[in-house]
Amino acid sequence: MTTDSFTIIDNRTGKQYELPLEHGNIRARELRQIKVDPEEFGTMSYDPGYDNTASCKSRITFIDGEKGILRYRGYPIEQLAEQSNFLEVAYLIIFGELPSKQQLEEWSYQIMHHTFLHENMTGLFHAYRYDAHPMGMLISALAFMSTLHKEASRVEDAAVRLKQIYRILGKLPTVAAFCYRHRIGRPFNYPNADMGYTENFLYMLDYMHQTHYEVNPVLAKALDVLFILHADHEQNASTSVMRSIGSAYADPYSAMAGAAAALFGPRHGGANEAVIRMLAEIENEKRVPEYIERVKKGEFRLMGFGHRVYKNYDPRARIIKQVAYDVFNVTGTNPLIDIAVKLEEVALSDDYFVSRKLYPNVDFYSGIIYQAMRFPPDMFTVLFTLGRAPGWLAQWVEMLTDSEQRIARPRQIYLGYDERDYVTLEQRG
Ligand code: CMC
Repeated sequence: MTTDSFTIIDNRTGKQYELPLEHGNIRARELRQIKVDPEEFGTMSYDPGYDNTASCKSRITFIDGEKGILRYRGYPIEQLAEQSNFLEVAYLIIFGELPSKQQLEEWSYQIMHHTFLHENMTGLFHAYRYDAHPMGMLISALAFMSTLHKEASRVEDAAVRLKQIYRILGKLPTVAAFCYRHRIGRPFNYPNADMGYTENFLYMLDYMHQTHYEVNPVLAKALDVLFILHADHEQNASTSVMRSIGSAYADPYSAMAGAAAALFGPRHGGANEAVIRMLAEIENEKRVPEYIERVKKGEFRLMGFGHRVYKNYDPRARIIKQVAYDVFNVTGTNPLIDIAVKLEEVALSDDYFVSRKLYPNVDFYSGIIYQAMRFPPDMFTVLFTLGRAPGWLAQWVEMLTDSEQRIARPRQIYLGYDERDYVTLEQRG
């Protein structure tokens, strides 16, 4: 008997099974052999919310939630945030290695030369009311793109995949900027490939034909760092959706529309918007203890707190807190930061949060920076989407090129009625 295995005894039958371990884990499929009656389906594992289920093997992102560690392709997030830039990190995440100078130039050139949208898409943005949520607009823009780039459905072709990666990374900032310009009733600014990725995005948002227009380099750098911090986070809800839809061989635009829809939820990427609303509602540092008491009573959750994986301070939140003060040097302070700092202080000294290991997550401070930069709250999750795009794409490619992956198809434990006969409307009483 190998020692790299588990021995399971089925107390119903007394039978013994040896389940091999692979990288320290068992394949759920091995459980199937455990059954009382040979006609039975066999045993499954039950795991709502995939709390303890690995759905893939991945080489992209490493998280140690207990220690608060996050690495992309082995590189610590702190080093990447300080020394790299978003396009380089996107390359690293997608291709697995940092690019050479020439590779980075080619990569940046390709992305910055896939930034223009099909002109028909401007009609899509105009179809929305002025107060439409930009995430709804972005999700439908992705679906729209799937109708324009038909070859994208050839997901097994590596060259076709790469072309869509250039397009998605290139065009998403344009989509986001057009959503914003539509809502403020200003004409669209077309992309400028002579600028850096984040700089061009800020330009498309802001430019109003001023004579000496320049994007503020501190703000461009801050947003670039925020994009890096959001670039991947292994198998979270939206990434799992990207892999799931992708596993059906849908094109990447459709898969990403689904991933963005998952991200929109307030328990995921929508939390940054919810944090700002929460801080505005608290209004004053003095009201923090009272608000915390209501959270503890279960009236609502403290937004921007807690994480499925991090049971320690989210390393991204630590970096974002520092970036906030760089941004305030340019924009002036955001008074909500004082409420946030107080909220963190009170929560982290309260047994409710300490015992549940609830710490500030990436969304706790990011909204404060976005708001200081004058982004309206409903744009925050759009910014998260721009940052997360390389991660979704890298995970999608990894899934498609992994020979073990099949169409995502979870099982269920059926607890509904056994067969019963249809009752006509008259007989139902
Ligand atoms: N405020 C108050 N209590 C909380 C919170 C919170 N933010 N988060 C979890 N809890 C409590 C929860 O009530 C439960 O308590 P009990 O054991 O007494 O029932 C316990 O902590 C465990 O919670 P859970 O819901 O089982 O944890 P989960 O891993 O399923 O949920 C989460 C993770 C992020 C959805 C959750 O912490 C949450 O809703 N946080 C607020 C929303 C948020 O900030 N989301 C952003 C996540 S980070 C960025 C991203 O992924 O997009």
